[in-house]
Amino acid sequence: MIICKMTPEHLLGVMAVENSSFTHPWSENGFVDEIEKESSFCYVALQNDTVVGFAVLETVLDEGNLLDIAVDEKYRRQGIARKLFKELFKVADEKKLSFITLEVRESSTPAISLYEAHGFERVGVRRNYYSKPTENAVLMTKYFNL
Ligand SMILES: CC(C)(COP(=O)(O)OP(=O)(O)OC[C@H]1O[C@@H](n2cnc3c(N)ncnc32)[C@H](O)[C@@H]1OP(=O)(O)O)[C@@H](O)C(=O)NCCC(=O)NCCS
Repeated sequence: MIICKMTPEHLLGVMAVENSSFTHPWSENGFVDEIEKESSFCYVALQNDTVVGFAVLETVLDEGNLLDIAVDEKYRRQGIARKLFKELFKVADEKKLSFITLEVRESSTPAISLYEAHGFERVGVRRNYYSKPTENAVLMTKYFNL
């Protein structure tokens, strides 16, 4: 398994993971936009050239926002998200980010556990933020260099 920068050739595989992971998935154009932005950092996890996971981090000045992360269901609990976070934290270090923030469905226990394991703390709740089904978003932030 290797981690590399997301390119347009990966989009078919990325969309397969995205569509099977979320009830309200991003469109392909959403990923194209992020790949093209110099201030965004998009990575894929590849197993024998097949996309098995990805992560998208946008940055604005010294702030990071984790926009999307998912791993193919068949490959979960094998440390792939952990490897993706290693890359994101390298970006945080290189770009001297002050923090990375994110929103997550209140019921997404695996994701919340993943974030807590990487030093993210709950900093707030956005009520009824998600649809399909309607659900609160938990806001989580990890601060660097404090
Ligand atoms: C959340 C998600 C990306 C985790 O990916 P993953 O590759 O399975 O995660 P890893 O194997 O790297 O796990 C790293 C750590 O996260 C935590 N974790 C991950 N999945 C977990 C689960 N199902 N239950 C409890 N803790 C979990 C654990 O601390 C784990 O470390 P450990 O295996 O040593 O105990 C994956 O479950 C997923 O794609 N979910 C659907 C999409 C989603 O909810 N994305 C987040 C949107 S905000």
